[in-house]
Amino acid sequence: MSINVLNSSKNDVTDAESLRQLEFIELAKQKVSALEKELGRKPKACVVTFGCQMNARDSEKLLAILKLAGYEETDSEDSDFVIYNTCTVRDNADQRVFGRLGQCSNHKKSNPHMKIAICGCMMQEQEAVEKIQKSYRFVDLIFGTHNIYKFAELLNTCLESDRMIIDIWKETDKIVEDLPVFRKYPFKSGVNIMFGCNNFCTYCIVPYVRGRERSRAPKDIIRECEKLAADGVKEVMLLGQNVNSYGLDFKDDDPGKISFAHLLELVCEIEGIERVRFMTPHPKDFSDELLDVIAKNRKIARHIHLPLQSGNTEILRRMNRKYTKDDYLSLVQKIRTKLPDVAITTDIIVGFPGETKEAVDDTIDVVKKAHFNNAFTFIYSKRTGTPAASFEDQVPEELVKENFDRLLKVVQEEAKEQTLKYDGQIQRVLIESVNDHDESLLTGRMSNNTLVHFPGNKEMIGEFADVKLLECHGFYYVGELI
Ligand code: 5AD
Ligand code: SF4
Repeated sequence: MSINVLNSSKNDVTDAESLRQLEFIELAKQKVSALEKELGRKPKACVVTFGCQMNARDSEKLLAILKLAGYEETDSEDSDFVIYNTCTVRDNADQRVFGRLGQCSNHKKSNPHMKIAICGCMMQEQEAVEKIQKSYRFVDLIFGTHNIYKFAELLNTCLESDRMIIDIWKETDKIVEDLPVFRKYPFKSGVNIMFGCNNFCTYCIVPYVRGRERSRAPKDIIRECEKLAADGVKEVMLLGQNVNSYGLDFKDDDPGKISFAHLLELVCEIEGIERVRFMTPHPKDFSDELLDVIAKNRKIARHIHLPLQSGNTEILRRMNRKYTKDDYLSLVQKIRTKLPDVAITTDIIVGFPGETKEAVDDTIDVVKKAHFNNAFTFIYSKRTGTPAASFEDQVPEELVKENFDRLLKVVQEEAKEQTLKYDGQIQRVLIESVNDHDESLLTGRMSNNTLVHFPGNKEMIGEFADVKLLECHGFYYVGELI
């Protein structure tokens, strides 16, 4: 696994900032080395990640700084530095963090050197920070999403202070390039192409905690991908809350203003990058240009995650999704015509205010007609500060549960049927790991994102291979190398 410091020349401000942060890493090194002497062993650090792919990528950046400072990575929260990178999209994520924090305080009682940090989306909410200040006094460091690039500096402050350090910014227009990043997998990597969201779906907290859309300059993205390729990465996933708004925040006369479709093309031209994924497009602005680029380019994975949220036009209007049931179905039709071998997956929310049994019937109808390969189904969670939180017609829990179960049954049937379509085929997979349950098996991922388990040697991890799909087990396959 590698730590990469990307060289950039995007602009002087971010260059100066990244250099400043690298200096803080040097300072942190001295402090961690002193701690090592005191403890008589290498200090350990644990990064706990909640939420989406964007958070997973942020955690790779946090871990890189901790490792460069001299900590040894561990999965156990019984360590010398624990950082929780939080999510606040749904209430259950918040509750899980508080549960884990509570347990962590026990470790701190037996390890006085221990530092506990918490960052990410949940920390952009004042209520959550106040709760920690009041009831979780043992936390040492709190910061948010906008100043994560300052982690090396905050780590230093935290290591030299016994007080709770809180540094949360409301907004930022800054993107700091060239910070170290540690990749969990040597052969695949996420690449942020933009940050924030401008869509303001009425149920969603993301625009409030991640701020407005900010796209990275294409040259910075390409250079990062080239470096990754040179470092052995074969698959990249371009990440953004709404990737098809990429570049819309650039001025019209900016020579760097290109569409997401064009950016994808440029990434596909990079030698060594063999597979390109992206997450997440919004159905309202999925362009024909994007479809044509995907159709033309076999490097682009045959998987589109296309969040539906609801199949009922009135609920979609109240969600501010800006498409109707028919718009969505026409888009799916168009995608399937141009990309016959594509897998489409989705996100669905059940229990949005005002959602009736009949509205859920519409959602079920879309699931059947769109033939989703998989769907993540969520129960609506009321997020304070979003418009939907003050809608009056919140749905009773029993009805939500009933609707959720009905929907899930159809989702699972449809997913099984779609997965079964590949039975007997030979598919190219990227081999990602040894199987979690059986060490004699490897796990690979098909272009359409389906997993397949097959006998093989772990030396092959990180390679592409052709696998024959022998047995369909609902969402995954068992197969053999050919
Ligand atoms: N309640 C339930 N699910 C939500 N999501 C976003 N906000 C909420 C909420 N308040 C879901 C959406 C989104 C996914 C990442 O999380 O389906 O696509
Ligand atoms: Fe949230 Fe909607 Fe933005 Fe997705 S597009 S992050 S659901 S506001």
